[in-house]
Amino acid sequence: MPRRSDQPTAVRRAYEQYGAPGYYQRYGATYRNPHEPIIAELLGLAVARWQLPLGQVLDLACGSGEATLVLRALGAGTIAGIDPYTSAAYVARTGQPAEQLDFEQIAAGALMGRHYDLIVCSFALHLVPLSRLPGLAVQLSLLADTLLILTPHKRPELQPAWGWALRGELLHQRVRARYYERA
Ligand SMILES: C[S@@+](CC[C@H](N)C(=O)[O-])C[C@H]1O[C@@H](n2cnc3c(N)ncnc32)[C@H](O)[C@@H]1O
Repeated sequence: MPRRSDQPTAVRRAYEQYGAPGYYQRYGATYRNPHEPIIAELLGLAVARWQLPLGQVLDLACGSGEATLVLRALGAGTIAGIDPYTSAAYVARTGQPAEQLDFEQIAAGALMGRHYDLIVCSFALHLVPLSRLPGLAVQLSLLADTLLILTPHKRPELQPAWGWALRGELLHQRVRARYYERA
């Protein structure tokens, strides 16, 4: 989610009431990110700055396709969306299904054997508990050469020991894009 102070009150209350998993279980089918224009601008800047490889892309925790739609417009080849809670919203906006896997399943190896040129994870990786982040990051490093994280927070910061080396960071409208390559 965006910074708490930026959230509409009703969303913030529901988030506090149900917690992150409960919130997305209840409202995932109608999820929309109010910061979508910033995501679009920042993704465009990131693709241009780092010449990101857009052949085979994984949109991890894809929501209703906020990143997918931008990447498609930027000329991406194949984009796979994965999200445990928002598949209805994703297919409604992108016309393609999202695979319903969560971070825990991916950390346990659910995507082993696949390869993507780029993984994009927008406004979602901060939801992973710090204790689970190294395991997930290592699994992601087995799947892709490059990783782009968009976050309205300072976290997460991945470590080289977890398989990823930070190559650059952009800050746009208080949202960060962090670009990593496999360490
Ligand atoms: C703030 S939304 C971001 C969605 C979209 N990427 C965007 O930029 O708007 C967080 C996303 O994380 C997903 N999510 C929540 N818990 C998750 C989990 N345990 N594993 C994977 N995805 C999860 C939600 O379904 C939701 O789509």
